[in-house]
Parts: sequence; C-alpha cells; structure tokens
Amino acid sequence: MVENQKPVYYGDYLELSKLLGTQNPKSLEAGDESHDETLFIIVHQVYELWFKQILHEMDSAIKIFEQPEIEERQLSTVNARLQRIIKIQHLLLTQLEVMETMTPMDFLEFRDLLIPASGFQSVQFREIEVKMGLHTGKRKSVDREYFVGRLSQKDRDRVEEVEKSSSLFDLLEKWLERIPFTNNPAFDFWAEYKVAVEKLMKADEDIIKKNLATLGPTQKEVQLDNLNATQKTFASLFDDKLHKELVASKKRRLSQKATLNGLFILLYRDEPILNMPYQILNSLMDIDENFTTWRYRHALMAHRLLGTKIGTGGSSGHHYLKMAAEHNQVYVDLFNLSTFLIPRRDLPKLPKEVLKTLNFYFNESE
Ligand code: HEM
Repeated sequence: MVENQKPVYYGDYLELSKLLGTQNPKSLEAGDESHDETLFIIVHQVYELWFKQILHEMDSAIKIFEQPEIEERQLSTVNARLQRIIKIQHLLLTQLEVMETMTPMDFLEFRDLLIPASGFQSVQFREIEVKMGLHTGKRKSVDREYFVGRLSQKDRDRVEEVEKSSSLFDLLEKWLERIPFTNNPAFDFWAEYKVAVEKLMKADEDIIKKNLATLGPTQKEVQLDNLNATQKTFASLFDDKLHKELVASKKRRLSQKATLNGLFILLYRDEPILNMPYQILNSLMDIDENFTTWRYRHALMAHRLLGTKIGTGGSSGHHYLKMAAEHNQVYVDLFNLSTFLIPRRDLPKLPKEVLKTLNFYFNESE
C-alpha cells in the first residue's frame, strides 16, 4: 500500500450507490410494477457499459494508428485492443439470451410506457459505428434518417463531432497505403502475380470449354459469363479507371493502393513481418462480422418479441433491423480480398532481398 493512502472501500471505489441506484422502472412510477422491466433496464445498462469499454479500446487503437509511423511493437498493442473488443462482442451476443427470457406478453406489460425511446437513441452505439467507419454518408437513405434523426440535439452534436475525425477504416486505408514491400525496383511483384493469375484463369477456361459440349446453350452462357465476370474482377485490381468506377458505384471503398497492399499481406501472411498486419486485418474482419451477427440476432429477437409490430422508435421493426444488418457491414473490401487469393504453390517466389526485408534476423556477433 502507498504510504498515507486511505484504505479503499469496494463500494466507494466502484461508486455502487450511484450505479445501483439507476434502475427505475417506468411501470413502478406508474403504480403497477412489471416484474421484467428491471431485467430490461439492467440488460440495456450492461450493454451501454460494454459499449463504453469498446469505445475505450477503439480510441486507443485509433490513437496509435493516427501516428504517421507505427512501430512494430505498437501493432501488437493495436491487435490486443481489437482482440479485447472481439471477446466483449461474444458476451454481447450471448446476453441477448438473457433478454429473451422475457416473453412477448411480459414485454407488452410495460412497452407502451417507453415510447418513443428506442435503441436508435443509443449514442454510444452510433459512436462505435462511426469509429468503425460507418459514417452517415455510407448508410442507406432510410437508415440515414433514423441514424441521427431520433437523437437529442446534444447527442446529435456528439455524433457529428465524431464524424469529423478519422475512423479506424480511414486510418487502416492510410496505413495499408504506406506499406513498402511491393515497391522494390528490382522486382515487379504485381507483374509476376498477374502471370500466376492468368495461368489459373486459363486452367479454369480450359475446364469450362471442355465441359461446354455437355452443357445446354443457357448453361454454356452462364458459365462463360461467370468466367468473364471473374476475369473482369481481377482486371479491376490493376486498372485504375475500373477501380475508380467501382468506388463511384459504392462497390469498392478502399483505394487501389490499399487494396493491393492488403492483398499482399494476405498472400504472404506467413512472412514474419507481415504476420501482425495480417492478424490486424483478421481482427477487424472478426469485429465487423460480430457486429453483423449481433444485428441479425437482435433483429430475430425483435421479431420474436414484437412480431410484425413497429418499433418504439417508429421504424418497421424487425424488417428495418434486417435491412440494417444486410447493409451496414463496413470491412466488405477486406472480405472481398479472398477473391484474389491464389494457392500458395502458385505464389510468385520472392527474391532473396525482398524476403530479407520481410524477416527478422538475429545476428550472433551482437
Ligand atoms: C425487448 C428487447 C428489444 C426489442 C424488442 C428491440 C427492438 C428494437 C427495434 C424494433 C429497433 C428499431 C428501432 C425502433 O423502431 O425502435 C431497435 C433498434 C435498436 N436496438 Fe433494440 N430491441 C431490444 C433490445 C435491445 C437491447 C438489449 C439493445 C442493446 C443495447 C438494443 C439496441 C438497439 C440498437 C443499438 C438499435 C439501433 C439499431 C440500428 O439502427 O441499426 N436493443 N430495437
């Protein structure tokens, strides 16, 4: 114990008298307490506490990522923060089961007392979305209206303030653009990769052509169209104009440079220096996937508890929530990078000098 330090008391340290004094059911206030309203309040409060912790971890990762140069050891810290978010998300997902112990009839006892309060007004949830990279402009129009439309002016100002700073997505893009390994003047990695891909495409084409004789005219057309589409997708990797068209039509978001460097990390993830960047990309995909899973799971719960009734915030209820789950994935470009992966055996062999820059060396004389 530090000298002269007053003994700390558990309840004071955690400010439990404040924390445990904040469960005030509306039904009790109205004179007829519904048993399950306490559960409803506590489950929401616990979510908000975990949202606070998620924001704490995200802010720390953002602060590191904001630096113009990031040291290798700091990347491990970023990944540790992201991994903690993933573990919290697992709790958030299973917590819905506790909520679901409340039946639709029990919910009906106090639901109308809550109108027009709604999860739409969770300003921390909005902050998490924005910090992940889901800005107002990236949402569907119906969603955009609900996004800040139900918030108080103070909360809306807070979200708008957060929208002005860089999200994890923006910072990831800048960091990926800075990754140096493919800029070796002695070795044109992408030219070699293109040759490897063309070889694979040719093999696919040969298989399809061989099978064409056994197919009907419609099936033939479908197969050739699919092959064409795959070839075009690969071409878009290197064709700046095509890439820009995809960005303009909102089919792609990451810059071409960031996309290519992200792909390089995924292809050569086994090289020691690329392993931590690979883990960070993977963690971000896990977080994105976990949020999407939570959205679907929450939509199912809303369906189960409300049927097809509208939500207390005025949306179409579970229909709206399903739509939001479908459209609000942020790191789609990272998921799509798997399209461009090729088997390890077909990967271009990296020259010794490049391999050296991707490895750690321990010199005996030092
Ligand atoms: C009885 C349980 C619940 C039901 C029936 C329910 C239902 C709904 C509905 C219908 C909406 C759409 C907005 C509206 O019209 O009100 C919504 C939104 C939302 N709810 Fe819940 N909810 C429940 C529990 C929870 C819990 C425990 C959380 C945790 C914080 C939560 C967080 C949210 C969030 C963040 C939104 C906004 C989602 C978005 O805009 O994409 N809900 N909820």
